[in-house]
Amino acid sequence: MTKNSFQSLPLSRPDPIFAIAAEAKAAGPGVLDATIGVLLGDDGKPVILESVLQAMEKVTKDFTKNDFTYPVLAGLPAYREVAERLIFGEAQPSVASIATTGGTGALSLNLRLARRMGIERAILLTPSWVNHKNMIEAAGLTLTEVSYLDEDLLPTTEPLIVAAKAMPGPTLIILQSGCHNPTGRDFSAAQWKEITDALSSLSHIILLDLAYQGWAEGIAGDRLALGLIMKSKIPVLLAWSASKNHGLYSFRTGLAVAVLESEKERVSVEQHYASLSRTLYSGAPTMGQMIVIEVQKNTGAWEKELDTAREILDTRRKLLTSLLPDEWKPLLAGHGMFTQLPLSSDQLQTLKKQKVFLTPDGRINISGIPTEKIELFARHLTSVL
Ligand SMILES: Cc1ncc(COP(=O)(O)O)c(C=O)c1O
Repeated sequence: MTKNSFQSLPLSRPDPIFAIAAEAKAAGPGVLDATIGVLLGDDGKPVILESVLQAMEKVTKDFTKNDFTYPVLAGLPAYREVAERLIFGEAQPSVASIATTGGTGALSLNLRLARRMGIERAILLTPSWVNHKNMIEAAGLTLTEVSYLDEDLLPTTEPLIVAAKAMPGPTLIILQSGCHNPTGRDFSAAQWKEITDALSSLSHIILLDLAYQGWAEGIAGDRLALGLIMKSKIPVLLAWSASKNHGLYSFRTGLAVAVLESEKERVSVEQHYASLSRTLYSGAPTMGQMIVIEVQKNTGAWEKELDTAREILDTRRKLLTSLLPDEWKPLLAGHGMFTQLPLSSDQLQTLKKQKVFLTPDGRINISGIPTEKIELFARHLTSVL
């Protein structure tokens, strides 16, 4: 019997994060689920920002028949304007931008733009969010993985600088701006300076992943890496997301940006962004864009809620750190939702039997564990040491 085309499909492995999250969900009551990267409150439910809910109500009330038609490919102009203002602050450079389906869409478009620019290679600092590698390869770039952690598992710049200097031609260097996924351990300001000093004399281009703006040091504080990159005149593409800082995960709202030198470049890059988007999913959905526009009309309440989100994350991180053995404490220092511990697959399996779920790389979403259960969680972790 001949195989039909579906039978010829090779096996495709499910995304490891979504797969383990589904296992945790199926494990039923009493589970400690630190898998999926969503900010959860002490009730175990996603934290929904009141300012965003109010904006959403206003947007749906004001919705007109015209809003049902196709969106412009580049996204709503007012959305791009407010997102660019958040990203760059007052010192706005000349940019090309396009609304995207979350930070993932922005990364995918920028990776494909880099291919169209003739860039064939990418450097990814590891460990990294598992989807980075998949997206880089899907865009057709040849990947070099470089560790960004030293023997004590703390951030170091040297391997990146050595690898960047050894690259034979222009290479796309993917860097996370803050709240590192999966480790939570970010480069310090001094380390960013070392990186930008070293890259300023090379011909590479940075793709800066800004998925968590506002969650590390606040909206302005989280511009540090971008500021240094721009000061060093290193070409830069950006992938920004409203999933976390506006809590709009399911609305798939992001922005791809290229910092440019001339109007001619802007027109060209925006045409490429539009044609790339058109071939993948046409235009990004507009509801999330409308909500961001509305939230950003009066940012006071939203900024306060962003501060609260940061406080929740910091408080739980501190509590967990205080309860774990001393040798793990330096690894727990950091920002955002995640921390990562060097646990073997046997240790992860043992934890699973105790209904404690982490992702297969030992990543822990700290916010996934309600405050009252952190002590219990820490006891489970310590028990597998
Ligand atoms: C480092 C990093 N980049 C990008 C993304 C993608 O963001 P979005 O959910 O907006 O697609 C995530 C989401 O978890 C992330 O952790």
